Amino acid sequence: MSDYKKFPNGFLWGGATAANQCEGAYNADGRGLANVDVVPIGEDRFPIIAGKKKMFDFEEGYFYPAKESIDFYHHYKEDIALFAEMGFKTFRMSIAWSRIFPKGDELETNEAGLAFYEDVFKECRKYGIEPLVTITHFDCPIYLIEHYGGWRNRKMIDFYERLCHVIFNRYKGLVKYWLTFNEINMILHAPFMGAGLYFETGENEEEVKYRAAHHELVASALATKIAHEVDPENKVGCMLAAGQYYPNTPNPVDYWQAMEEDRENYFFIDVQARGEYPNYAKKKFEKLGLNIEMTQEDLELLKEHTVDFVSFSYYSSRVASADPELTEKTAGNIFASLKNPYLKASEWGWQIDPLGLRITLNAIWDRYQKPMFIVENGLGAVDTPDENGYVEDDYRIDYLREHIKTMNAAINEDGVELLGYTTWGCIDLVSAGTGEMKKRYGFIYVDRDNQGKGTLKRTKKKSFDWYKKVIASNGSDID
Ligand code: BG6
Repeated sequence: MSDYKKFPNGFLWGGATAANQCEGAYNADGRGLANVDVVPIGEDRFPIIAGKKKMFDFEEGYFYPAKESIDFYHHYKEDIALFAEMGFKTFRMSIAWSRIFPKGDELETNEAGLAFYEDVFKECRKYGIEPLVTITHFDCPIYLIEHYGGWRNRKMIDFYERLCHVIFNRYKGLVKYWLTFNEINMILHAPFMGAGLYFETGENEEEVKYRAAHHELVASALATKIAHEVDPENKVGCMLAAGQYYPNTPNPVDYWQAMEEDRENYFFIDVQARGEYPNYAKKKFEKLGLNIEMTQEDLELLKEHTVDFVSFSYYSSRVASADPELTEKTAGNIFASLKNPYLKASEWGWQIDPLGLRITLNAIWDRYQKPMFIVENGLGAVDTPDENGYVEDDYRIDYLREHIKTMNAAINEDGVELLGYTTWGCIDLVSAGTGEMKKRYGFIYVDRDNQGKGTLKRTKKKSFDWYKKVIASNGSDID
């Protein structure tokens, strides 16, 4: 389809994780409880039922996978050494807010939590790995949810601001790349994980979500401001759960539907990258009668402190139709979309569309003209180790290879600016969507199952050596 050329010098190859999906040690060294800890495996994972607040603590009869996860907290040296062996240029990880501020609203920091991340960043630097740090990856201290209602409350901006001051100062010189909120658009689909939201009976949920979104957007602009003040070298990015919508047919009403659904997602990035609420969003709030309080100061912050780059996760494209009769949905990254008959799907039903990555890269580039960073992409699959514990994951290699090809075409043929690529779950970890361990993305197999049994032993998969070769050749050798 296209000429495969070199990747730019300094392209940041690496892998991505999130604190709650890999650290474990949920109560070690003063860490406070967070929303991500109390979501059990399986169907009861996101019971955001109005008036039902059961997820403020652990309950009998459930298994909570994030409690121990893959215990990166105690294995980080071993894991980072393996990433270094693969030649990672960057490692995406997140900070657990409740390790640093166990409750979230206190003035004192928890030194043990701060020291932990300092050690992790130093360990990365030891190997020349650039940390890429998500400040909030779906986590919110439980105390802030119970006492303030999560991000629905404006006070959250102050608590987040305090966290930013602390981490930007403490990790100055160690961390340069920051992401403010993981998949910020997820707040509309998974509000408990996205923003610590639960709803009271009879509440206008749409209004609460957009109000919380506004608070996160202002907090994100503030973070960008502080990051630049503390160290002009800092680069701050927004983060979108991306995947372009295709119209189901050439019928203009389907095209319109696809555009509307894209706008629902791009709305967040429009604010973070362009600095103001787009007119279509203002009109939507007006039409739905949503009361979102915005101060003049908020609007100025948004305007003056836009992000330096746009990062996103990409797993699949999506399909939209205006026809209410069409209901056959595919599974997906929390979003369910219509099935695309031209695409195959993963074992979890996520449709696989490498060209969709090129389409998405171009759509985002055309919209913002800011450097981009693909910070998640990968295949969740069942891996079956042989008698030596080795996994021949050619399916994963194929998936990644096809996506790297279209990423290459977007850079070399379309001229988009791309800073780097971090594959999701570079080491097996707990799934955010289902809580399963069985859904593996890694180059490194971790011996742990859905029930939390296993030795936690790390074993390189076939894809480990393949990715090592990809990085060593700066993406020239992907065979
Ligand atoms: C993204 C998240 O939604 O997709 C990650 O940022 C998540 O946290 C990833 O793990 C893959 O989703 P899942 O449900 O397969 O873990």
